[in-house]
Amino acid sequence: INLNNAKFTISAPDIRRLPEDTGIEVAFAGRSNAGKSSALNTLTRQKSLARTSKTPGRTQLINVFEIAENKRLIDLPGYGFAKVPMEMKKKWQKALGEYLEKRDCLKGLVVLMDIRHPLKDLDHNLIEWAVDSDLPVLCLLTKSDKLSQGKASAEVLKVKRTLAELNGNIKVQAFSSLKKSGMPQATQVISDWFAQ
Ligand code: GTP
Ligand code: MG
Repeated sequence: INLNNAKFTISAPDIRRLPEDTGIEVAFAGRSNAGKSSALNTLTRQKSLARTSKTPGRTQLINVFEIAENKRLIDLPGYGFAKVPMEMKKKWQKALGEYLEKRDCLKGLVVLMDIRHPLKDLDHNLIEWAVDSDLPVLCLLTKSDKLSQGKASAEVLKVKRTLAELNGNIKVQAFSSLKKSGMPQATQVISDWFAQ
């Protein structure tokens, strides 16, 4: 499978508006501003496939990108951002929760966390939920360009150690959309999920 073939398919406000629940989906989840949409663009080698922004809360819909027939990448709304009107937040947080709980074709979850402050409560909850749901997880520690190599490796190790307690299928990788680092590793994991 070639992630570069990703094509925008649809933006859905809730799961009823998504394509039929068949095939394989790999979803990108994480706190607002963690770098989900940027990582999607980096991994598909398309500059403006998913919309990115300095302002947290950019992605408010479930965005679907088709890679091949019945294989899709999903850009999810971020969580944990306070400065959004309550009504709006309720709507897209509901869409996020419903997607995670009800989407049967979801076969792998990419959890993106800023390498400078990973594993906040909501991140940990999400990863725990994925393990309980037998979903494989790839943690991408984003914006690794903001740390020295040494500090970045230390952070990866720390996150690995903490998550080892969950006994799940969890991989942890430093990632930078700016420097395009962590690309081959992340691409390999995601391609393997699509190949099942
Ligand atoms: P929401 O859609 O709001 O949930 O955010 P998101 O997780 O999709 O984040 P997005 O990709 O829009 O990136 C947020 C900000 O972080 C933007 O200003 C990006 O330019 C910046 N950013 C993303 N990835 C990197 C990276 O690898 N390095 C650096 N230095 N900045 C990054
Ligand atoms: Mg986004």
